[in-house]
Amino acid sequence: MITNKKIWLIGAGSGIGRELALKLAGTGNTVIISGRTLGTLEQVASELAARNPTGEGKIQPLVCDVTRDDQVTEVRNEIEQLTGALDMLIFCAGTCEYVDDAELSTDLFRRVYEVNVFGMVNAIAAVLPAMKQSDSAPLIVGVASLSAVVGLPRAEAYGSSKAAAIYFLESLRLDLHKHNVDVSVVNPGFVETPMTASNDFPMPFLMQPSQAADCIIEGIAKRKRTINFPRRLTWTLKLASLFPSLWYGVIGPRLAKRDN
Ligand SMILES: NC(=O)c1ccc[n+]([C@@H]2O[C@H](COP(=O)([O-])OP(=O)(O)OC[C@H]3O[C@@H](n4cnc5c(N)ncnc54)[C@H](OP(=O)(O)O)[C@@H]3O)[C@@H](O)[C@H]2O)c1
Repeated sequence: MITNKKIWLIGAGSGIGRELALKLAGTGNTVIISGRTLGTLEQVASELAARNPTGEGKIQPLVCDVTRDDQVTEVRNEIEQLTGALDMLIFCAGTCEYVDDAELSTDLFRRVYEVNVFGMVNAIAAVLPAMKQSDSAPLIVGVASLSAVVGLPRAEAYGSSKAAAIYFLESLRLDLHKHNVDVSVVNPGFVETPMTASNDFPMPFLMQPSQAADCIIEGIAKRKRTINFPRRLTWTLKLASLFPSLWYGVIGPRLAKRDN
């Protein structure tokens, strides 16, 4: 169980992040939650109070748009005033836009990369100086996606942003080793959240956000380097990556034809 930690959780107003916030606060952690929408963050804090009226855990909402350097720095400073050094940053913010019929738009790519890649770099860069000085072996958790395992139809922007995020986090892990800062990469499969609500294609092994949050917390507690779930989708995609001729020559084109 994770307890007594000071955690900044970004992307906590809905979906997976919301469940993570409630579960982590419910076991006695102080969780600063961020996103762009104050109303949804406040609802998460009220939900904790309703679920856990006598609990020790605490949720503190602080609005932050990760694409805005000034807001990230401001909120980081506010957190340092409120709680002192952080034990954990969980970057769960994300956005998904699909590409239709290979009609590439740099604007679309920029919108997706601004949050999923530059937003992640921005938030991590803000907390790193203090984490490097910390004696508490802090942890950085970045939520990427199983979609990065193989090329998927219509995921040119989203999938490639998540592949970039994974590489960034894994490279960072190496350079933070000597500073005693750990990095965990989370790769969820399909989870029923506002992000997937408008998906009009089959989502195999779809999970609930609460199950996803349990998998992430279990992985974080074990300080796993990579947290992939659900297992069946992980192995299906890994198998596909081992047989590229079959995936890119037969199965993938059929999926692309169906989804476009
Ligand atoms: N659901 C899935 O099937 C699935 C699968 C693989 C990976 N993931 C990843 O899991 C993470 C959580 O996704 P979810 O499914 O829980 O979706 P979600 O419910 O849409 O949550 C995404 C959160 O990110 C926040 N956000 C978006 N842009 C932001 C910004 N510029 N600054 C700060 N916060 C921002 C949103 O809040 P505001 O709009 O209020 O800012 C929202 O609460 C994402 O990284 C997603 O890519 C999801």
